[in-house]
Amino acid sequence: CRVQQWDSEEPVPRAELLAGVAGKRGLLCLLSDRIDREVLEAAGPSLKVISTMSVGFDHLALDEIKKRGIRVGYTPDVLTDATAELSVALLLATCRRLPEAVEQVKNGGWTTWKPLWMCGYGLSDSTVGIIGLGRIGQAVARRLKPFGVKKFLYTGSHPKPENAVEFEAEFVPLTRLAEESDFVVVTCALTPATQGMCNKDFFARMKKTSVFINTSRGAVVNQEDLYDALAHGQIAAAGLDVTTPEPLPTDHPLLSLKNCVILPHIGSATYATRSTMAVLAANNLLAGLRGEPMPQELQL
Ligand code: NDP
Ligand code: DGY
Repeated sequence: CRVQQWDSEEPVPRAELLAGVAGKRGLLCLLSDRIDREVLEAAGPSLKVISTMSVGFDHLALDEIKKRGIRVGYTPDVLTDATAELSVALLLATCRRLPEAVEQVKNGGWTTWKPLWMCGYGLSDSTVGIIGLGRIGQAVARRLKPFGVKKFLYTGSHPKPENAVEFEAEFVPLTRLAEESDFVVVTCALTPATQGMCNKDFFARMKKTSVFINTSRGAVVNQEDLYDALAHGQIAAAGLDVTTPEPLPTDHPLLSLKNCVILPHIGSATYATRSTMAVLAANNLLAGLRGEPMPQELQL
């Protein structure tokens, strides 16, 4: 292959992408590259394969891609463990207020041991609601179970008894999940159906003592509604690995809240996982170019 590479960790500038893709047969992209009609038209009819170094594919205009007969590779499974691990880390950091507590040690707020100081909420005997019991959702539940979770609830487009049996998880409507969960963990894909799904009504149904975690995509959450819920004590705390936009501006209102822990989209960020994702994305691309089955092809 002859390869034209944007050799930087920074995203390729749009103009550079549009010019560079012209006449190419394959495109390897990241989740930060929006592959829409404009890019496909700039590429022209030569483009046969798109390989994204991500499991999420909400940045790809799948209708347009399918119409043009272009094949798509992605990276499921290889990042499930790393992302589930980070989801649990974020959940614990949020419910036990770790960033706030670390700050107190540094700024002299730690004066003595006080009975109610820095108290949070624990997993033991809790109800955990998982929005999207897919690969990552199941891996999160598997990791949370040993903490003594009493009950798992989940929601999705349909019940998945074969996946739920391991956790004795109950399929419930979104409203009931919001009302009954002590911890809500969002691990679904971003689709038209899930966009803005966690909104004012959703947060109003949650308990005042409940914790909300999102490691899927920022747009699943209405951030203004989340801000209001956190600022007015409608829910206890939130932990987000994903936001809208990314990066979140440093003066964003959510960053002013003590009960909101925000990470910079690092779910899959272990050296081993990123390396495996990169190799898989390259192999998907090569297989697609050869007209062979891809190691992981998205069924369009
Ligand atoms: P899966 O396809 O295995 O799981 C996605 C889940 O979303 C499915 O269980 C699906 O349930 C669910 N879903 C779809 N529609 C709805 C709906 N309307 N309501 C509730 N759930 C719904 O994908 P993965 O688990 O591998 O990845 C999930 C997402 O996590 C990715 O799409 C990506 O956006 C994000 N991600 C984020 C990372 C990070 O760094 N923070 C890292 C990796 C992934 P059903 O089958 O019932 O429709
Ligand atoms: C994905 O793969 O979709 C994540 O967001 C980053 O690993």
